[in-house]
Amino acid sequence: MSHLSNVWFKVTDLQIATGRGCRVTTVDGHDYLDFAAGIAVNSTGHCHPKVTAAISEQAERLIHGQVNTMTHDRLEPLAAKLADITPGPIDTFFFASSGAEITEAAVKLAKRATGRPNVIVFQGSFHGRTHLAMAMTTSKTSYRAGYAPLPSGVFVAPFPDPLASDQETTINASLRSFDRLLVTQTAPGETAAVVMEPVLGEGGYIPAPQAFVEGIAERCREHGILFVADEVQSGFGRTGEWFAVDRFEVEPDIICMAKGIASGFPFAALGTRRELDDLWPTGSHGGTYGGNPIGCAAALATIEVMSEPGFLDNVRARGNQLRDGLSELKERFPELRQVRGPGLMVASSFDHAERVPPVLEHCLHDGHLILMSTGTDGNIIRWMPPLVVTAAEIDEAVDAFADALKATA
Ligand SMILES: Cc1ncc(COP(=O)(O)O)c(C=O)c1O
Repeated sequence: MSHLSNVWFKVTDLQIATGRGCRVTTVDGHDYLDFAAGIAVNSTGHCHPKVTAAISEQAERLIHGQVNTMTHDRLEPLAAKLADITPGPIDTFFFASSGAEITEAAVKLAKRATGRPNVIVFQGSFHGRTHLAMAMTTSKTSYRAGYAPLPSGVFVAPFPDPLASDQETTINASLRSFDRLLVTQTAPGETAAVVMEPVLGEGGYIPAPQAFVEGIAERCREHGILFVADEVQSGFGRTGEWFAVDRFEVEPDIICMAKGIASGFPFAALGTRRELDDLWPTGSHGGTYGGNPIGCAAALATIEVMSEPGFLDNVRARGNQLRDGLSELKERFPELRQVRGPGLMVASSFDHAERVPPVLEHCLHDGHLILMSTGTDGNIIRWMPPLVVTAAEIDEAVDAFADALKATA
C-alpha cells in the first residue's frame, strides 16, 4: 500500500533511480529520453556536473541561511548575475521557492506600488495553484474546480488565436477587447498590473504575437499599469533567448522566474526596478525559504553553464531541427495540425485530442521517450527537452514520435 497522496496526476509510472543529461534510468536499469525535463525544469539536463558540484559544495558550508535572520554570501552575487541577464532596467530581486509564490509576490508588489486593487490576465494562462494564482489561471477548469471561492479582482482578457488565418485581425480584436475591459470592468485607476505569459505554457505552447505583446505593454505604460512577464516556464533559455520577452521591444516592470532557473533545485525569483521595490514596504512580504543558499548556488551554476559560448545557440539550432522534423511529419500525417513555438518550447497539435494519449503511451513504452501533453483541449504534445539536448537525441525523439503516429493510427 502506498502512503503517497493520490492528488498528483501521473504522466508515467516510471520508477526512476538516476538521471544524467537528457536521460533517466529506472530502478531496474532501463533508460528513457526525458523530453518532459521535469516540466521544463531540468534546463542544464539531469545532474549537470557543474550544478551538482555547486550544490554539494554549498551543502557542506551552509544549508539554510534564512534571509531575515542573516545575509549569506550567495545572495548578492546571484542578484548581480540576474541583473546582467534580465531585460532592461530590472536590477532588484526577491527570492522564493516556486513559481506560484513568485506570481503571487508580483501581484502583491504591484498592488503596493500602485495602490490599485485589480489585475488583468489572459485567457488560457496558467500562473500556479495557490488561491490567487488559481484565480489568475484560465487554461483549464480542472485547475480551479471545487476550490471556490477564489480571490476577486482578477479580470480575463482574450489571447490571440494561433489558428486564425488572419493574424492581424485576431491581434487587433484581442487588443480592442483589452481596451473594452478597461472601459467596462476594471478602470485603469483600479488596475495594478497586467500579467502575461509571453508564451502560454499550460494553455498550449502558444507564442504571444509581437504586435500583441507590444500593444499591451504600450497600454500599460499609458495607464500606469505595471506589465508583469510571467517567465516561469518560458524563461532561462527555453525559447533560445534568456527570456521570451527579449524578442520584443518591451521592458517588463516585473519578471517572474522559476523552473529552469536552478536546473531542478526548487528556486524562484522576482525581478523589478529598484524604484518599484522601494514602494514595497519592508516586512510586507517574505517567506522562510526564499533565497536558500543551495538554491542560490544551483542558480549561479545554472547561469554559468548557460553563459558558456554556444549554449543558447544550441537551443535555437535544436529547436529549428525539432520544428523541421515535426513539420516533415505533418506532411506524412495530416492529423498533425500545427507545429509552433520558439526555441525548445515546441508544440505539435492534433486535430483530435483522443489521439494524444495513445501516441504518448507508444512513445513511452516502445520509444522509451517521455513526452507530455498540454493545452486547454488536451490536443497538444509539447516538446521541452533539457536545453543541452543533442542533434542525435532530437532525431531519436522525432523517430520515436513518427513510429508512434504510424503504429497507433
Ligand atoms: C507560466 C507559469 N507560471 C507559474 C507556474 C507555477 O509554478 P510552480 O508550479 O513552480 O508553482 C507555472 C507552472 O507550470 C507556469 O508554467
